[in-house]
Amino acid sequence: MATDVRDNPDEHRYEARTDDGLAGFAEYQLVRGDRIIFTHTEVDPKFEGQGIGSALAKGALDDARERGLQIVPICPFIARYVHRHPEYMPHLDERIRKAFE
Ligand SMILES: CC(C)(COP(=O)(O)OP(=O)(O)OC[C@H]1O[C@@H](n2cnc3c(N)ncnc32)[C@H](O)[C@@H]1OP(=O)(O)O)[C@@H](O)C(=O)NCCC(=O)NCCS
Repeated sequence: MATDVRDNPDEHRYEARTDDGLAGFAEYQLVRGDRIIFTHTEVDPKFEGQGIGSALAKGALDDARERGLQIVPICPFIARYVHRHPEYMPHLDERIRKAFE
C-alpha cells in the first residue's frame, strides 16, 4: 500500500496517509531543539498488520536522522524497530544507547 509519512509539527507527530486518508501517527516531544522523544505510535485498527507502523517508524527515524536530532525511543514499537534496524543506533541519545546494544 502506498504510504506517505510526513511531520505535522503543530500536532507533534508524524502522520501516515494512504489513499484512504490518515492511517496512523507517531507522537513525539522535541526537547531543546536537538532531541526527539518518540512517545506513542498508533495505527487505525483497520490498517493494522499492513506495514503502516513500520513505514511510520522508518519515515520518522529517517527525518530525525536527517535533522541531526538525538533519538529517544520510549515508544515500545519504535524501540523494537530500532533494535531491528541498527543503522539508527548512532543517532540514539548517547545516554540510552547502551541499553540498546
Ligand atoms: C503497534 C502498531 C503501531 C503496529 O502497527 P502496524 O501497522 O500493524 O505495524 P506493521 O504492520 O508495520 O508491523 C507489525 C509488526 O509490529 C509488531 N507489533 C505489533 N504490536 C506491537 C507492539 N505493541 N509493540 C511492538 N511491536 C508490535 C508485530 O508483531 C509485527 O511484527 P513482524 O514485523 O515481526 O510481523 C499497531 O498495532 C497499534 O497501533 N497498536 C495499538 C497501539 C500500540 O500498542 N502502540 C505501540 C506502543 S506505543
